[in-house]
Amino acid sequence: MPEHEPEARIKQIAIVYAMEAEGTPLAERLTLNDAVELHQGLPARVRGGRVGETEVFLVFNGRDPVHGVDRIGLEHAAVTTWALLEKIKPQFLVNAGTCGGFLSRGASIGTTYLAGGDYLIHDHRIPLPGFDALGVSRIPAGRYPAIEERLGLSTGPVSSGSSLDATEGERRFFEKEGVVAKDMEAAAIARVADDLQIPLLTMKAVTDLVDHPEPAQDAFLRNLRSTTSQLTDHMERLVRWIGEGVTHADLSG
Ligand code: ADE
Repeated sequence: MPEHEPEARIKQIAIVYAMEAEGTPLAERLTLNDAVELHQGLPARVRGGRVGETEVFLVFNGRDPVHGVDRIGLEHAAVTTWALLEKIKPQFLVNAGTCGGFLSRGASIGTTYLAGGDYLIHDHRIPLPGFDALGVSRIPAGRYPAIEERLGLSTGPVSSGSSLDATEGERRFFEKEGVVAKDMEAAAIARVADDLQIPLLTMKAVTDLVDHPEPAQDAFLRNLRSTTSQLTDHMERLVRWIGEGVTHADLSG
């Protein structure tokens, strides 16, 4: 049976995190192996292991050798995802991580969303015919009603960009599009997954509120650990369920 047929089992799942601090708690709970290089020359690292019937690969972009911090951002996410999908070709890909949320959409710190609507890019301004739309991207998110229901999570558009803070123009864009999660990776991962036809789910948990006066970086640093713990609870439930031997049809419900 072809890999992505509805009745095909999910034999391999890959999970992409930008930051080691976001993904390590899940790797530890699932007792995955120590990290190894994903691809020669890249700092990206992968931790693997088996959860029930499913092989799990948990991937980080890795630490930038010059700046000494995790390689967050769209360009690193795209490169890591490309290398991962070329090497492993999982039947299901998950982008998990943290995001900015919105009081106006009912979010609070720790609220966790699944991507629904479109993957957007909010700071990719190209005022040329056709290229303007390329800049915004607008890739329809794959929906998994059974996962949404099982985890009890809301969905909405996820918008990605290269900055932690937001300009006034970007805030207007978020309102117009009803964005629920502002991050720095999802749209890039969605582009590669869509090109290579790998089903993608995105799960993002709120560390800071875009429409709150506190600077995003202060809230992010204060809430990273507690929000990651909530994200990890949801991710662990998802991975253990997939490990029971579910099919694509089961995920869609
Ligand atoms: N990740 C966590 N908070 C974020 C924010 N405000 N913007 C982009 N990415 C984030």
